[in-house]
Amino acid sequence: MKDDDAPLLLTPGPLTTARTTREAMLRDWGSRDQAFLDLNARVRQRVVEVAGGIGTHVCVPVQGSGTFAVEAAIGTLVPRAGKLLVLVNGAYGRRMVQICKTASIDCVAHEWQELEPVDAAATAKLLDADPEITHVAVVHCETTTGLLNPIEAVANVVAERQRGLLVDAMSAFGAIELSAKRVRYDALMASSNKCIEGTPGVGFAIVRTEALAKCEGNARSLSLDLFDQWRGFEKTNQWRFTPPTHVLAAFDRALSDHAAEGGVVGRGSRYRENCKTLVDGMRAMGFQTALPDELQAPIIVTFLLPRDARFGFKRFYDLLAQRGFLIYPGKLTQGDTFRIGCIGQVFPDDMRRAVAAVREAIDEMGVKECAP
Ligand SMILES: Cc1ncc(COP(=O)(O)O)c(C=O)c1O
Repeated sequence: MKDDDAPLLLTPGPLTTARTTREAMLRDWGSRDQAFLDLNARVRQRVVEVAGGIGTHVCVPVQGSGTFAVEAAIGTLVPRAGKLLVLVNGAYGRRMVQICKTASIDCVAHEWQELEPVDAAATAKLLDADPEITHVAVVHCETTTGLLNPIEAVANVVAERQRGLLVDAMSAFGAIELSAKRVRYDALMASSNKCIEGTPGVGFAIVRTEALAKCEGNARSLSLDLFDQWRGFEKTNQWRFTPPTHVLAAFDRALSDHAAEGGVVGRGSRYRENCKTLVDGMRAMGFQTALPDELQAPIIVTFLLPRDARFGFKRFYDLLAQRGFLIYPGKLTQGDTFRIGCIGQVFPDDMRRAVAAVREAIDEMGVKECAP
């Protein structure tokens, strides 16, 4: 339940944060002061703990949103003579291809339909057919649709062929199990303001130390060089450039709350309950999800627009906003959809209230039929 009169963000990023997390931003920190250096070291360590990578991986944060971390990881981990295969089934896969094009990184994309998971066997064939591919990039939860990709199976075929794997786990990290102890990757990218429920402003990569140690001079960007950023942290525990101190303080607090909720397992089970409450309630009204349940991650749900001509997304959005809930339009390239997120400081009771608000909104619009 939101603790003030701001709307509840059912939009996974920015998402609803706890008041205690926001309150952690109410003081200033000296960037070279020991108290901040301790906080910074603790945050980096805790992120690696959440990833299950203690002893093998390091957390390298960068200022900015999640895309900054994805761009930094691709630009640092893929060598200048390397080639990246991007597995694409949504907008965030396509964004990685765009990152490569912008930075002139040799890249090949393989596309699936947006409502289809990427496929490990096909990935294996692509790798066998092209020995020049050095790395593979894939999205864990494709937030475009809410689809959960089979990362472990992909990681296995990539590891068997001794290529590096980069996982954009932006919307899944902290809520969907993917232990670095079991799943081999070179880098996994996420941000402060997704399932850890910090405020926006920091992206980070969890990088296998052995892989990162070989990346000196790879980066195509000064500020997005994860190798130099890491070296800076290891030497002095300081950021190379002005750190987002307040965001890090909030992130530290959010990581404590994440641990207190039972870590990845506890957070994931609340989100699963949120998602089930939402989907059951919407289906009871006749709405249909774009994805079958077995492909649905408990992060964000895509619903098909009702066929009833009285339904209009803009009016629906406004009526929900008046009732205190912000939602997202659809992001599918084909078909009319809208999306409702299940993550952030929101609880099953909030989802029940959101479903009730949807009911009121469709009644007010005079919509009789919610089926597509
Ligand atoms: C899977 C995925 N990758 C990348 C991003 C980009 O993150 P940002 O908008 O913070 O740059 C998002 C944002 O929602 C995402 O869901």
